[in-house]
Amino acid sequence: MNQSKKLRINGDRLREEITTLASIGRDQDHGINRMAFSEGDRAAREWLQRRIEASGLEFHQDGAANLYGRLGWDGTTPSVLTGSHIDTVPGGGHLDGALGVLAGLEVLRTIAESGVRCKRPLEVAAFSDEEGRFGGMFGSQALAGLITPETIYNSVDLNGVTLLDAMAGLGLDALDALRARRRPESLHASVELHIEQGPVLDRERVAVGVVEAITGLFKWGVRLIGVPNHAGTTPMAMRRDALQGLAEFAGQIDRILEEHGSESSVATIGRVELHPGAPNTVPGQVDFSLDVRDPDPRILDELFDAFRRALSAIGRRRDLMFEFDVLSEIEPTQCDPAVVERIAATADELAIETRRMVSGAAHDTQSLARVTRAAMIFVPSKEGRSHSIAEWTDWEDIETGANLLLQTLLRLANE
Ligand code: GLV
Ligand code: MN
Ligand code: MN
Repeated sequence: MNQSKKLRINGDRLREEITTLASIGRDQDHGINRMAFSEGDRAAREWLQRRIEASGLEFHQDGAANLYGRLGWDGTTPSVLTGSHIDTVPGGGHLDGALGVLAGLEVLRTIAESGVRCKRPLEVAAFSDEEGRFGGMFGSQALAGLITPETIYNSVDLNGVTLLDAMAGLGLDALDALRARRRPESLHASVELHIEQGPVLDRERVAVGVVEAITGLFKWGVRLIGVPNHAGTTPMAMRRDALQGLAEFAGQIDRILEEHGSESSVATIGRVELHPGAPNTVPGQVDFSLDVRDPDPRILDELFDAFRRALSAIGRRRDLMFEFDVLSEIEPTQCDPAVVERIAATADELAIETRRMVSGAAHDTQSLARVTRAAMIFVPSKEGRSHSIAEWTDWEDIETGANLLLQTLLRLANE
């Protein structure tokens, strides 16, 4: 057996780094708050840069504020890339994204320390705003050339802060993201390690998921606008109550998915804001989010129309104005079959049990797949909990996933 096949990551070191990153932006009661370009994200970026530099890798930051550690980089040979994100949802867990970045860093550091030479350069990346403070996948979409000046000028978070201002707060110019585009010739392949964020691997007690496809989604910011009025004097039949419109719509979601979706379709209203928000005033306006997902692009199109028609009909019937903005649209993605086979064959060699699966969560790999051959490795999530402080993966499973990532990247880098 050659020396590289024996290489294994340092599990203790990886555990220590995951634990340290988890303390950055941590709110004792409510999980981790590292929304993109927030104070927590800034602190995490600084920490990661120091860790990359201390690992003997070359540090690089592109125009979209994606952070890279590079090994054997020569600027011409196509590289093998791994990575994920270190931003979180509000109240997020310690592994969503962070695992892929820190396991990638540990893999590159292990290879660097071993003195094993690869034919191709290796890169680990932390992509900006994967979680969607400003829509989602900003950094990896910039890498894939999917960001336009309009995207940048129109990106605003739910509190009205613009992307331009949020990045300026970190001394960055959002328009520089237009320069982050990578030529497909600069990349050989990409593999992202991530927690499953669903219950399948944990329930079936399988160590690793090999991802064959990733769901598509659309995310809307919706407004129903009626008339605020006195809660005591306005007869029920004479109200234009925005919340009643939302309640009727929420009650139709199951039916819309049954009639127009597939077994994989899901829809979520995850944020609601009532205005003016007083107990004795009929709510004149409701702002809410709608997140709809399916792995089939035709079904996603049909759901887009069905949800729009349902909201229009409710608006007409209840005399509410209906408006929506498309905050994000991500196409369903097929992973590269050769990279999928490479992961599965490597797992077989390492005697790791695997299962093929479709990801219901969105991932940076969806952007990567637009420019290079890309696939993903999943490790189990305890009880499928994620986007929550209850997120957990056993350290043993993390080590298994990281070693599979190491051996897969070594093979890809020597193809
Ligand atoms: C990302 O975490 C998503 O699937 O929304
Ligand atoms: Mn993630
Ligand atoms: Mn997430």
